[in-house]
Amino acid sequence: MPLPETFIYNLKQSNPLDAVMASYSRLIKRGRNYVCLCPFHSEKTPSCTVYTDNGSFFCYGCQAGGDVITFTMKIENLDYIEAVKLLSERAGLTMPEEGAQTDSSRLKSRLLEINRAAARFYYDTLTQSAQGEKGRRYLAERGVSQNTLTKYGLGYAPGDWYSLANHLTKLGFAEFDLIDANVCGRGKNGGLYDRFRDRVIFPIIDLRGNVIAFGGRVIDDGEPKYLNTSDTPVFKKSRHLFSMNLAKKSTERRLILAEGYMDVIAVNQAGFPNVAATLGTAITREQANLIKRYADEVIIAYDSDKAGVNATQKAINLLGEAGVNARIIKLGDSKDPDEYIKRNGAIRFKQLLDKSDNALDYELNKCKAGLDISDASDKVEYLKRCVNILAGSSSSIEREVYISRLASENGVQKQTLAEQVNGIIRKRKKANEKREWDDIRISGALRTANGSPGLRQSTSSVYSNQTKAERGIIAYLAKNPEEAGAVSSKITSAYFATEFHRLIYEKILKSIKNSAEFDIMSLQSEFSADEMGKITEIVINNNNIANNKTVIEDFINILINRLSSDICAKDLSDDDFVNHIKNIGIRKQQKN
Ligand code: UTP
Ligand code: MN
Repeated sequence: MPLPETFIYNLKQSNPLDAVMASYSRLIKRGRNYVCLCPFHSEKTPSCTVYTDNGSFFCYGCQAGGDVITFTMKIENLDYIEAVKLLSERAGLTMPEEGAQTDSSRLKSRLLEINRAAARFYYDTLTQSAQGEKGRRYLAERGVSQNTLTKYGLGYAPGDWYSLANHLTKLGFAEFDLIDANVCGRGKNGGLYDRFRDRVIFPIIDLRGNVIAFGGRVIDDGEPKYLNTSDTPVFKKSRHLFSMNLAKKSTERRLILAEGYMDVIAVNQAGFPNVAATLGTAITREQANLIKRYADEVIIAYDSDKAGVNATQKAINLLGEAGVNARIIKLGDSKDPDEYIKRNGAIRFKQLLDKSDNALDYELNKCKAGLDISDASDKVEYLKRCVNILAGSSSSIEREVYISRLASENGVQKQTLAEQVNGIIRKRKKANEKREWDDIRISGALRTANGSPGLRQSTSSVYSNQTKAERGIIAYLAKNPEEAGAVSSKITSAYFATEFHRLIYEKILKSIKNSAEFDIMSLQSEFSADEMGKITEIVINNNNIANNKTVIEDFINILINRLSSDICAKDLSDDDFVNHIKNIGIRKQQKN
């Protein structure tokens, strides 16, 4: 049952796209519209535009596009109904009963229920059962307080293979759901077994308080040290951060980012609630964007080993792109924050945070690695590396300050360093421009080769006439739904050569027929977010012709001509064939 149009209309009115997008990316006013760095891909110059007149957005870099619902689906990884639900909550609207549940949202709520019940089971086992003693002793040895244990809802999974499976089946959960939730697997004999056995359990909780996954640590030296829930319909590890649900409550707008579960727990217990960790992988763009919503500054407190140093550099880059300021702490000879706090206490850790390096200092410091600066040729190498780093800073003031400092520290002319830095900036800019052009050419060539629905587009000449015509007709109907009858009497969807365009055309006609107020964005429920991006692009890039009736008639004729010159008219259904003949008739009359 679809949601009533009036509700969707109100929903959009109450959630202006620019207001919603502003909490994910900084919008810059450009005439009536806004531009911003695209929240869906990495870029340094804004290629995403928010069109205020029709509440749509489109990114010329990655072809993401659509309206506020598409945007929410894509950025929050939700399906249509869930996105509508979220926006309703945001605006304080009550969602109509009908259509509130789809199969996918029902599955997700079952999986969340399973996770909640499993977390409860692990927690009770840890705190109340005899088997839990092993877990209690382990956590106590690692200095985890009772309070912390409760705050994180830590647990213990018993060592046998069936405790959780038995418990959850008794509660009435279906076997296939337990497998989908990834808390159980199916054995060779066909029965269920528990995935987590004899492990301390760390529940992973999302920003809305749902238990979405688990990490489980071995008690002894087994392998793997940590076992984690694989991606499920309610969990994608690249999108979440451990303990972000607690960290987000802090008003600091400063986040401590660690690598491990135990580091987060130690830092939190030491009195710093604004700490979170990626889930055993390098930080992703999605995580950086998520952080951006709650923090302007991140203090990276990664392990001091080589892997940690590499991960730190990656985090500096991605956070920088997301517009988050990064600082880095040096743990000295402690391997991770947990160990540092054990050895030195919370006060020393606080001092470490306060004297953390900013990202540029950290990177410049790294340039010294393996060099002896008192040696002249090593110093040259060092300064070369520094110049390269400084050329990456996008702030001219920052560059100026650091160039001055570097010059005086190393007894060289400021002017000389500045020339070097500027030279590199120019070179990179040129290389970038060339790459962008190459991209455009390549994507153009690919497009004409496979006739796919157009992407990255302003040079419309790369389309065949047929494709141009199909795109134009779609855009025309989007703008002029009252013309649907006239157009559809001339061409059926069979006239479209591109599968995707044909589908859009069919859905548009159906939707116009069924609704009083047609809006192209109402195709939302029929197409994926990526497809909505392409549809938005078609509409936006054909804006200029979408009001021009004669051009549209030409377009219609292009479609009719192609089909009649294809002998494949035999593939048409009877109805289409009749229409087709009629249309050829129309064309002949026009020629006479
Ligand atoms: P570490 O090995 O540094 O873990 O891995 P840690 O948090 O310091 O753990 P302790 O102190 O030995 O208990 C860092 C993070 O990498 C992920 C986990 O998220 C871990 O917290 N990891 C590590 C895995 O997912 N699987 C593994 O086998 C190891
Ligand atoms: Mn550790």
